[in-house]
Amino acid sequence: MPGDKSISHRALMFGALAVGESCITGLLEGEDVLATAAAMRAMGASIERDESGIWRVSGVGVGGLLQPAAPLDMGNSGTSTRLLMGLIASHAITAQFTGDASLSGRPMGRVITPLSEMGAGFDASEGGTLPLTLRGTYPAVPITYRLPVASAQVKSAVLLAGLNTPGITTVIEPVPTRDHSERMLTGFGAQLEVEETGEGRIIRITGEVDLKPQNVEVPGDPSSAAFFMVAALITPGSDLTIENVGLNPTRAGLVEVLTQMGGNIEKVNPREVGGEPVADLRVRHSKLTGIAVDPAIAPSMIDEFPVLFVAAALAQGTTTTSGLEELRVKESDRLTAMANALTGAGATVEERADGLIIHGTGGKPLRGTANSRTKTHLDHRIAMSMAIAGLASRDGVEVDDIDPIATSFPNFMELLGGAAQAATDQPHAD
Ligand code: S3P
Repeated sequence: MPGDKSISHRALMFGALAVGESCITGLLEGEDVLATAAAMRAMGASIERDESGIWRVSGVGVGGLLQPAAPLDMGNSGTSTRLLMGLIASHAITAQFTGDASLSGRPMGRVITPLSEMGAGFDASEGGTLPLTLRGTYPAVPITYRLPVASAQVKSAVLLAGLNTPGITTVIEPVPTRDHSERMLTGFGAQLEVEETGEGRIIRITGEVDLKPQNVEVPGDPSSAAFFMVAALITPGSDLTIENVGLNPTRAGLVEVLTQMGGNIEKVNPREVGGEPVADLRVRHSKLTGIAVDPAIAPSMIDEFPVLFVAAALAQGTTTTSGLEELRVKESDRLTAMANALTGAGATVEERADGLIIHGTGGKPLRGTANSRTKTHLDHRIAMSMAIAGLASRDGVEVDDIDPIATSFPNFMELLGGAAQAATDQPHAD
């Protein structure tokens, strides 16, 4: 599996803030992560890839970010945008952020609110969107911020602003979200404390801090592995081993839900990579049964719902999902996009305000897209999910745009082609 996108962004950002050389192996070389690299270079860091694929980052030091000479083009990447807004907010520099049509429609108010409380100034487009100008401040004011939405991006933005803010910046997280920032900041030498309480997780970071350069090994991305897990589960005869899958509990919700649906997923050779739990996953074709997905598990599989909906469309019976309003503000409105895409391929789907209800075929192939093409809306995960749906369809699925796949999984088509070829080459005993 390619490197984890969330961890790759953070490794570049923290390396770019540490004085000295950090080496990163297994970095995801997708467009989103490259947008982060370009932005950190524009603010003074040196970031180079050597011939063996190791990324060498020499940082400017916390407090040392330079004012970028040109607008920072964040492409399709919400993570780059929101985390960098946090970093810049507590530096006395001004930066403009721009992005593609998808990113320019996404809400930034969720980070503008706490970062304004810390003293940063913003001129955003209507509705708190990109393009926007951020005027950072130094010294910023430490705040205590309770997250109104379960969002690792908002949590991280406030913590990163706290790095260069004298005093203790506190984030209260009522529902746990991915904790890569906390783990990796600690590894880079930040003073960070996490307390589990009745009202949730309280995270305190003490600034100003000096980060120490580190060697980071990026584990494989569970959000990318998700497509191959579902591919193997819904394709008769499959027995697929997916190597190097990150299984941080704040990211592993899909494995649990697919297992509850009857999926045969075995964790092989569990180990640790870069301070994160990792295993290989052996996944075999399975008869899946629809379930009511517990909304409490959503944050640990927030990016995996599009492909879960594909699994549900092939399961026996009904799968109900709820509590998923956040999916409407991802790279696309993923509830409407997937309801339309799956319906267009012959599945039976009901769209609700906060989730989808999917009546599965019981393993019978979907019709496929026939004369219509799936609209991906500049959303990599819609394109990849529907490619997987195509494996379990009579007439195949055609998507209108595969370019966005390069944001997170540049070799997806190649790997999928290889797996499909291996399947046709091998007689199966299913
Ligand atoms: C991410 C957090 C999630 C996720 C995104 C990556 C991160 O977003 O959807 O793909 O790296 O922090 P939210 O935290 O906004 O839910």
